[in-house]
Amino acid sequence: MTTLLLHLSDVDEAGWARRYADALPGVRVLRQTDSFDPVTVDYIFVWKPKANAFDGLTNLKAVLSLGAGVDALLKHPSLPADRPVVRFVDADLTQRMTDYVTSQVTFHQRLGTRFKRDQAARSWKQLYPPASSETSVGVMGLGELGTDAVHKLKVLGFTVLGWSRSPKSIEGIETFSGDALDTFLGRTDILVCLLPLTPETTGILNYELFGRLRRKLDGGPVIVNAARGGHQVETDIVRALGDGTLGAASLDVFQTEPLPADSPLWGLDNAYLTPHIAAISNIDAGVSYFSRIIRDHEAGKPLPNVVDRGRGY
Ligand code: NDP
Ligand code: OXD
Repeated sequence: MTTLLLHLSDVDEAGWARRYADALPGVRVLRQTDSFDPVTVDYIFVWKPKANAFDGLTNLKAVLSLGAGVDALLKHPSLPADRPVVRFVDADLTQRMTDYVTSQVTFHQRLGTRFKRDQAARSWKQLYPPASSETSVGVMGLGELGTDAVHKLKVLGFTVLGWSRSPKSIEGIETFSGDALDTFLGRTDILVCLLPLTPETTGILNYELFGRLRRKLDGGPVIVNAARGGHQVETDIVRALGDGTLGAASLDVFQTEPLPADSPLWGLDNAYLTPHIAAISNIDAGVSYFSRIIRDHEAGKPLPNVVDRGRGY
């Protein structure tokens, strides 16, 4: 009998197990606390796996990641090196991320920080924000999430640029790759990070990079990071928000999560912080997606969205 093991931390594992059992009749669905022989496990569904998660799983067919981002999972010391890792790719998650990105970008284009400060000072100063078409949004990462975000930003009227590792062609979007980063940054007013966290992208959002952004938007350029905290150097963000190198920052992710109470970011009126909630892996969508993958794979079809371990995403 096909066996699926759930190994989830910080989420309702029991709830997911019930839903999988309903969706996969004929499949044995186990939780990490059940007693079972690990050699019988075919698939493991993971989120923040503990150190022993993969112990004894010698017949594993695939590791299924509840997260769209697999940076932490790939660092797990016991992750079987020769087993495919399938990550979550889903329209619902993508829509939620685009909701976050468009809300933050529009807020900054409309000079939200400027008018918040004027309100606090009870100051009536008419300053007309640029039109969306006069505002250039640069999206780093043109994968599942970045591609949807650039399309929707374009529909909203923004001038949209994209940057990725390999060259891309997306209608209506000016794209850059690799070492064209400088040109991309020099044309960007609002920078959105939707990169995976890899050795190449770690710490990419730093003071030096902020200084390469275009200085056209009132108050200074803005960053929006909804990818991973490891992309940003928070001391640099605090410095840049303080000295005007950046006008504002919307951050959904942090180097340490939860963000420590003593982080200076909490107190900055031009930092817009959310607790890693930009996009959630929804239970309905997740169970439907991974159940289909298990059924298809058992029927002989290839696994989709397999992580390239060499690239790290
Ligand atoms: P994808 O793997 O689909 O896309 C990644 C994109 O980044 C690709 O366009 C890729 O380029 C580009 N990229 C990778 N490395 C580099 C590099 N060194 N230089 C330039 N571009 C690079 O990822 P997703 O869009 O699905 O997700 C992105 C990230 O979003 C996830 O890894 C995760 O960390 C984060 N996330 C955050 C959530 C939240 O709630 N805050 C929720 C879900 C995801 P190429 O196309 O050439 O391969
Ligand atoms: C993810 C996340 O990677 O929630 O899915 O950050």
